[in-house]
Amino acid sequence: MAAFRFVLSLALAVGIAAIYEAIVRLSPIHPAPPILLPPVSLSGAFTPNAFLSSNLRRIGGGGLIPFPEDVVADTHGFLFVTCGDGWIKRVDPFSDLVENFAFLGKGRRPLGITFGRQGELIVCDPDVGLLNVTKDKIELLTDEVDGVKLRFTDAAAVSMQDGSIYFTDASKKYSFAEYVRGLIDVSPDGRLLKYDEATRKTTVLIDGLYFANGVALSRAENFLVVCETMQARCQRYWLKGEKKGQSELFIDRLPAFPDNIKNDGEGHFWIALLAARPFYTDWLFRFPIILQLQEVLGLSEVAFKKLCKRALVLAVTEEGQPVRTLGDPMGAAISMVTTAYVVGDDLYLGSLNVDFLGHMKLNASLKPTVTPPPFPSPSDSRG
Ligand SMILES: *[C@@H]1O[C@H](CO)[C@@H](O)[C@H](O)[C@H]1NC(C)=O
Ligand SMILES: *[C@@H]1O[C@H](CO)[C@@H](O)[C@H](O)[C@H]1NC(C)=O
Repeated sequence: MAAFRFVLSLALAVGIAAIYEAIVRLSPIHPAPPILLPPVSLSGAFTPNAFLSSNLRRIGGGGLIPFPEDVVADTHGFLFVTCGDGWIKRVDPFSDLVENFAFLGKGRRPLGITFGRQGELIVCDPDVGLLNVTKDKIELLTDEVDGVKLRFTDAAAVSMQDGSIYFTDASKKYSFAEYVRGLIDVSPDGRLLKYDEATRKTTVLIDGLYFANGVALSRAENFLVVCETMQARCQRYWLKGEKKGQSELFIDRLPAFPDNIKNDGEGHFWIALLAARPFYTDWLFRFPIILQLQEVLGLSEVAFKKLCKRALVLAVTEEGQPVRTLGDPMGAAISMVTTAYVVGDDLYLGSLNVDFLGHMKLNASLKPTVTPPPFPSPSDSRG
């Protein structure tokens, strides 16, 4: 009897090993996920709410603003939006008039957008590189670093002090068309880069990020914050002061996976939390074989999109202290939010799931409650 049990266990073990080996062999992905610290508890600033569900207004719709990934406003309040049809659209938020502004080309998919120092648009085209876009001209600024072509130019922030353009390359392996696989194949292949306007050279500031996503500058431009999607956290990179050139944790244990980050100019960063982080995602990170099985069965896309059927945005101080979340837990008004952009009392939301730009007025009670210290005068900031 004991011998029979032994043989049975052995057969079972061999069977499991064979299946395991087959999955690994068949899988096109080889994730090496980090062990995530558990998410913060959903209290304080993270207390679940549905402010977005009932108060969001739609700008566009009817195919006018397809899959708006990112948005920036000029000094007059006009919005420039990167769309899934290759267009950068110009939107008048007072009349909701949507106009075509610049066309990158058929099949193109602009992502991050911000303004340069001369009023030009700096646009991230994941398949091409970093672009300088004006009404009549599209110029390539950079598409390589250290002689190797970029795969996934994602988001950018421009220094108004010296014109440097900080931007992310989400992955060295995957293009935007394969972004779900790029996320699921969790690996430290993302980078924070810098384009020097004067020398036109691109250099690496941080390598080894687990999907490098949004990037934003602090008001004093003394540091950058970069979102590391698959670590559910953001890193701070010092540009000035004693820690210049060093990076450190800015905020971690986020309750969802972050996408873009924007500075509201009033001392807060707004982080769009793209995909939910239910308890089982942490288990998937511990047992990447399940991610591989999911990929072999062709279920990754469905599984990932399921995590995106809700919306959550987070405001943090420039010290990384969370102060406010706005949510749409059932995705009633919007879902898969990629960007949360605040200008004054207006919040604009971009998404990879809808054909409109979300808009909401932030009244006194919805504005972040903790007032950050006043913006330092130029004499306070060390070079
Ligand atoms: C973008 O192009 C405009 C117009 O040619 C130019 O003035 C500006 O300096 C360029 N921006 C960068 C970052 O090269
Ligand atoms: C602010 O707006 C929210 C959402 O519409 C509402 O619940 C709240 O009562 C408003 N607060 C003030 C002070 O107007």
